[in-house]
Amino acid sequence: MCGIVGFVGKQDAAPILLDGLRRLEYRGYDSAGIAVCGEEGIAIAKSRGRLQVLSDATRGGADLPGVMGIGHTRWATHGEPNDINAHPHLSRSGKIAVVHNGIIENYMELKISLLEKGYTFRSETDTEVVAQLLDYYYEGCGDFFEALNCTLNAVDGAYALGIICADYPDRIYATRKDAPLLLGYGEGENYLASDVTALIRYTRDIVYMDDGEVAVLSDKGIRLYDRMLRPMEKEHHHIDWEIDAAEKGGYAHFMLKEIMEQPRAVREATAARIQDGRIVLSDLSMTPEQIRAIRKLYIVACGSSYHVGMVGKYNLERLLRRNVEVCLASEFRYSDPIVGEGDLVIIISQSGETLDTMAALREAKKRGARILSIVNVVGSSIARESHDVLYTWAGPEIAVATTKAYSTQMAVLNLLGLYFGDVMGTVDYETYENAVRGILALPEQMETILAKKDRIREMAKLCVDHDDVFFIGRNLDYALSLEGSLKLKEISYIHSEAYASGELKHGTISLIEDGTPVIALGTYAPLFDKAMSNVVEVQARGAKLIALTTDSHAAAMAERVDAVISIPDTEAMLLPQLGVVPLQMLAYYIALERGCDIDKPRNLAKSVTVE
Ligand code: F6R
Repeated sequence: MCGIVGFVGKQDAAPILLDGLRRLEYRGYDSAGIAVCGEEGIAIAKSRGRLQVLSDATRGGADLPGVMGIGHTRWATHGEPNDINAHPHLSRSGKIAVVHNGIIENYMELKISLLEKGYTFRSETDTEVVAQLLDYYYEGCGDFFEALNCTLNAVDGAYALGIICADYPDRIYATRKDAPLLLGYGEGENYLASDVTALIRYTRDIVYMDDGEVAVLSDKGIRLYDRMLRPMEKEHHHIDWEIDAAEKGGYAHFMLKEIMEQPRAVREATAARIQDGRIVLSDLSMTPEQIRAIRKLYIVACGSSYHVGMVGKYNLERLLRRNVEVCLASEFRYSDPIVGEGDLVIIISQSGETLDTMAALREAKKRGARILSIVNVVGSSIARESHDVLYTWAGPEIAVATTKAYSTQMAVLNLLGLYFGDVMGTVDYETYENAVRGILALPEQMETILAKKDRIREMAKLCVDHDDVFFIGRNLDYALSLEGSLKLKEISYIHSEAYASGELKHGTISLIEDGTPVIALGTYAPLFDKAMSNVVEVQARGAKLIALTTDSHAAAMAERVDAVISIPDTEAMLLPQLGVVPLQMLAYYIALERGCDIDKPRNLAKSVTVE
């Protein structure tokens, strides 16, 4: 989604703003802009399309001299992606420039009232209302801080705002509500960003802002105010991952790099949490009594994180012998959910900033449920608002399509299931021991799958020229097929559907015709025979079959299908951990063959901070 950067210091701001925005490109955007405050007031440059267009148009920022400024990458919500709607937006007086992530929900009402006061608007955006409202209040009271306070009292919705005013050429104002924003501390220079990747090249000393807080940045320091606008101090965080982690490191795409990083990521997410064969979740504050007293379990998430929840449902229900409800966050939040005291809501989110997931968390918390989140981005809003957080330690995930975050979320959820099962007394010793041994073996087994990349690339050719692909599977294979299908459609733009194999004959099988590619998942041994009969069923209708199974079933499968890829045998609950790898690679190579923009698929954003 949209990205924000801000810089104030002693060197020219524009090149730093452009560099920061470049590091946020992965979040997805359709236009970009910067505003720099120089000797002659505020200068703005913005343009539709890639950041390179903006960089070329400003000679790498040289055309906008000045030591303080703000920048933005926009992912259109209100108004089409064009130069005018791009941020920053300038106020009527030309003195105030604003960048904004989020949506001002009452912008129309505010706009009408400003129009009545004689204001005119250049863009169709909700953001311009903030610039003009600030202008209006500032003209009235002459105190910019007070004008900001009045503006914040007037706007409803979600926002992270970076604001500059030409009358204060040494300051950036920043505030947030329901959208991420963080402050970076440097030597004689300070920074603002919506995402730590924009800042890591310049500083590792970070403060995460919370809702309602206001920051005023200058080259001398950052003054912070709480929601009552009283001065306050906040805890600083040190970012310890290396800049390389946010660079491609020789790979053609971040997605490929992140696929390849999965053995390491899964090892990091699990190894430190297993000591002498026992799962130790020292980051969990729940007591055994609290775990045993859990009334009902929910898993709430969006997109791929929701798919992890689907796998989790099968695994946790088996391990805990109790009902697990998996909910899409966007549905849960408006469903008047029957959730309350005694219930545990497991929130899964890579970014920790997905707005629907955040809203679902707050809804469940308000109703008295305990919140345990599984999150990748340390210090993110979801992590901070949860009672417990289990971090996935996957490192920065840059490609829009998630891979290593999915794998580590699943690894952590499996650890949690086994841990709870042990405490609740629902998992027998042998199951527990075998699963732990299996988890420790996963990284090496993943390496063997990654080594088959040439074969998977070859198989990709079977799907490249098709418009529709089907994924089928049962049980854990069905849960996994949801993710395989999403990976394919989001980066290759091929329409695909994931179906529980048993459901096909209730309607969808009518879509199978001569040559339709079907990716049949048959890794789950207890249902292998059923998987085979579904293979035969679609084959009889002319489907072209690619199958995913385990090494021990590969030969049997190969007799029936056009191509087969196998994964090492492991405990049933761990099969999706291995099975997802070839499906990610298949999607990647199909998208590559089709010449798609793999790391930045059209219309998508990394962190979805709007509804
Ligand atoms: C797909 C993908 C998305 C995210 C979803 C939730 O590859 O990445 O479906 O899983 O937008 O995002 P997080 O996990 O950040 O809450």
